[in-house]
Amino acid sequence: MTDQHPGNALTAVLHGGGAADDGELPLVLVHGFPVDHRMWDETVDQLEVPAFSVDLPGFGDAPDVAGEPSVEAYADAVAAALDARGVGRAVVAGMSMGGYVALALAERRPDLVAGLALVDTKTVADAPAARDNRLRIAAEAEESGTVDAVRGMSETMLGETSRRTRPDLVATVAGWIGEQRPATVAWAQRAMAARPDRTAVLEAYEGPVTVVVGTEDELTPVEDAEHTLAHTDAASDAALVLAPEAGHLAALEAPEHVAGALGRLHRRATA
Ligand code: MLT
Repeated sequence: MTDQHPGNALTAVLHGGGAADDGELPLVLVHGFPVDHRMWDETVDQLEVPAFSVDLPGFGDAPDVAGEPSVEAYADAVAAALDARGVGRAVVAGMSMGGYVALALAERRPDLVAGLALVDTKTVADAPAARDNRLRIAAEAEESGTVDAVRGMSETMLGETSRRTRPDLVATVAGWIGEQRPATVAWAQRAMAARPDRTAVLEAYEGPVTVVVGTEDELTPVEDAEHTLAHTDAASDAALVLAPEAGHLAALEAPEHVAGALGRLHRRATA
């Protein structure tokens, strides 16, 4: 089932959901950059709770982006889609860029967020060099009208073990990246470059939290996850889950570990 929410400027698309219509607290899965909701498919297959996987504005099946790029606008689009679907509360899991969105959602719509899973992500803002690099990538995507500037992420998003033993995964991720729109890539890079440090949002969040990271994540390594864990509130009883032999896309590379972590978080949120 696919819902589109024609909101103001930006529209996020929700896929799945299933039994969430029966009032059960759903999971909401927010993808990373530069992929879309499909990165969660393997995880969703192993979940025993209803889950919506999101296409953020401009990605996958979502309509084009417009206006000033910001992670807050992504969060508002997700909130609007959930509101339109009648979902008043959900456990929100965000992978990398999706984690930035999940933290913005926790800040802007704490009423919606019944639990938080931060998967292969970080709470801090970019260093100046990383910000400059994003702006360079954004300009390149626009000028070339291609996603060539980010194609290499089909390798770097996967861990060393996957790159060596799972050429099918490299091809799958390359296919997803190749299907994204250059304007989306540019917008997302500018949005991420502009995002603030949201460590304080996590420190103030008292709902249940799980931090998940692939042990071979080269983009947001285990140290980032440890930093995240160290900044959780005691009331959130946060757990750190290491997904073995998985990289930045642990949700694809080690879905059983990620689904297990999300299932346990969901049980804590519903207890
Ligand atoms: C992602 O996977 O979403 C990206 O690595 C996020 C980023 O570029 O910071």
